[in-house]
Amino acid sequence: MSRREMMKAAAASGLVSMSMRAAGSDDEVAAAPAPSARVSRFEGLAFGMFVHWGLYSQIGRGEWAKHMQGIPTAEYMRLMETFTAADFDGRSYARLARRAGMRYITLTSRHHDGFSLYDTGGLSPYDVTHTPAGRDLVRDFVDGCRAEGIVPMLYCTTLDWSDPRFDADFDAYLRYLRDSVEILCTRYGSIGGFWFDGNWSRKDADWREDELYALIRRHQPEAMIINNTGIDAMGRAGHPEIDSVTFERGRPSTLDRRGAPKYVSGEMCHTMNFHWGKATRDFNFLSPAHVIESLCLCRRAGANLLMNLGPEAQGGLPAYESAAFGVVGAWIEGIGGASSSLYRGRPGVTGDGEDFGLSTDDGVDLYVFDLTATANTDVHGPARRGPGRRTFRGVTGEIRDVRWFDNDESLTFTRTDDGSLAIEATGYPYGTNTVVRVARARR
Ligand code: GLC
Repeated sequence: MSRREMMKAAAASGLVSMSMRAAGSDDEVAAAPAPSARVSRFEGLAFGMFVHWGLYSQIGRGEWAKHMQGIPTAEYMRLMETFTAADFDGRSYARLARRAGMRYITLTSRHHDGFSLYDTGGLSPYDVTHTPAGRDLVRDFVDGCRAEGIVPMLYCTTLDWSDPRFDADFDAYLRYLRDSVEILCTRYGSIGGFWFDGNWSRKDADWREDELYALIRRHQPEAMIINNTGIDAMGRAGHPEIDSVTFERGRPSTLDRRGAPKYVSGEMCHTMNFHWGKATRDFNFLSPAHVIESLCLCRRAGANLLMNLGPEAQGGLPAYESAAFGVVGAWIEGIGGASSSLYRGRPGVTGDGEDFGLSTDDGVDLYVFDLTATANTDVHGPARRGPGRRTFRGVTGEIRDVRWFDNDESLTFTRTDDGSLAIEATGYPYGTNTVVRVARARR
């Protein structure tokens, strides 16, 4: 296949990466569709919290512990006897999200181990009603989110290690899955989205997605439908009802939507260390600086970032992630907080390296990377560019003024021969280092 044919085939399938977009010619590919109100709203949420909490949190070796350590279901489910959820307070998660500049939380209503945090109404013996917790934790979560103005979303596993029907009678299992989702759709008021995960476990199976998604559209027409394509198929679109593609622990690429049947958004989900569920011996944590850079790179590509934390055994907030998220929130505050271009800016302005711009109605916010080495000076390399000239393509209109957000310093700028905007990026004043430094270019 020639590159051009590849480009056309990829465009027909709905999604191609930025690099292929550059290789194709514009005139042959149809215009891009516009996002639905539902998808636009989701894009405006920008930054979310992923919460992986379940029986496995008591083991403290990750959410795959049952599977990886071959723990038989009868033995594993004894963890229900000690699952008190004494430290869980949905509202404290929502409060942390708000402080961190996150606008939604996606909670594992049931993970692959088959245990549900909500009352399944007898559909499964493995739910919270059979534990000492004595309350519906999805209810607690949803109410807590609403009280803080955070959008609640629900993760639903499609793969199940404990329900015998998954292997013995797949059709009956899928009915159970749909019935479970129907409960989630009808009991808790409006839900921002449903995030499915597990179809990658049986790539050739008929998951009867039509029926599953139709029931969501019937009960929750405003809810996003997402189905994780897994680590090997990042950014791939699936069923036509899907509203957002996923980039699990990857790096989102800009989606080329020309010729696509509908506009889908993108979302990268990421762990803070190497596990989604609590892993007490995993010290491999990301720094707040890394999260800030990831968030920026997601927005550069027009995608959301869904950053994970693994609660403590009984639902308490984990200290490190809470602190790190707070640092990220303080950074967002420094670039405009709730009215920041991070949420409402339009991508499309690109700079050198990772630099980029987000356009608003009165200008463009320029996101400048690598003004200094990372805090760990052992790991910085030549990629750290320091102060100096930075050039941005795609800045339209006459720019009157460019200033750093953090100290309001006015920056020298000029238009280059090809129409790009070049700014002279100065270094941080002593006492400041924002990892990614943002300048506002005003028209
Ligand atoms: C993977 C894992 C799962 C995790 C999910 C989140 O698919 O199986 O444990 O919940 O990623 O993206």
